[in-house]
Amino acid sequence: MWKRHEKFERHSLWLVIGIIITVSIGGLVEITPLFYLESTIERVKGVRPYTPLEQAGRDIYVREGCYVCHSQMVRPLRDEVERYGHYSLAAESMYDHPFQWGSKRTGPDLARVGGKYSDNWHVDHLRNPRAVVPESNMPPYAFLAKTELDYRAIDKHLKALRAVGVPYTQDQIDNARADLETQVDPFAGERSGLKQRYGAKVAQRDFDGDPSKITEMDALVAYLQVLGTMVDFRTYKAEDPENLR
Ligand code: HEC
Repeated sequence: MWKRHEKFERHSLWLVIGIIITVSIGGLVEITPLFYLESTIERVKGVRPYTPLEQAGRDIYVREGCYVCHSQMVRPLRDEVERYGHYSLAAESMYDHPFQWGSKRTGPDLARVGGKYSDNWHVDHLRNPRAVVPESNMPPYAFLAKTELDYRAIDKHLKALRAVGVPYTQDQIDNARADLETQVDPFAGERSGLKQRYGAKVAQRDFDGDPSKITEMDALVAYLQVLGTMVDFRTYKAEDPENLR
């Protein structure tokens, strides 16, 4: 054994080859499973793809660079969990392309902001943050309430997301535009099929308080209100197979 080891210790080339082989075995064992995300991310009950309206809002969030000041990941540290709520699960961002975890927090983490405030609060805050939080240094986004949402290509957008692994059904893609319009219409009723396609918990209302048109504000507020609300943490327990789909 020691005799053979001498070969490695005396010839640098053999040593380098030996190191490369050893390190790559370790690397393969650690890295290869990550390419099979299906088996690395534990599926959790309640997590669903975004509705077309929420997805459109998410695109505005990315376009406006909200991630420059806001993270979307509650880390499993006591101070964060006490401030924001249950720590983020991998499954909660499994349909996010691109994910918005971030590391910069000029403002608070938004991973669990859904349901924390009323729609009205969000509209007032986005129009002029200082109207509701006097010490805020967040920029105003009043134009979102005036700009009509351009959702002509939303079905193609869902299709593109399906290509990268978000499980949108053909039915969801075919009805994307109708579902978007339904979600901002509190009078559209049950017949439209939005809730059959995305679940009974989907919020269906006029998010920006202006029923005359569908604005970018509608979409962004719908997105903010769903953040962190898909998993029911009153019943969720890690490692309980009941939670897994
Ligand atoms: C320049 C940094 C900055 C940018 C860019 C920014 N924010 Fe903020 N945001 C803040 C700060 C600071 C606060 C805390 C004070 C306040 O509530 O206004 C905040 C607070 C918030 C809150 C309230 C969070 C809570 O739990 O109280 C929401 C929601 C929010 N921002 C959404 C957004 C959205 C959506 C965008 C993009 C359209 C955005 N922010 C862009 C800095 C920013």
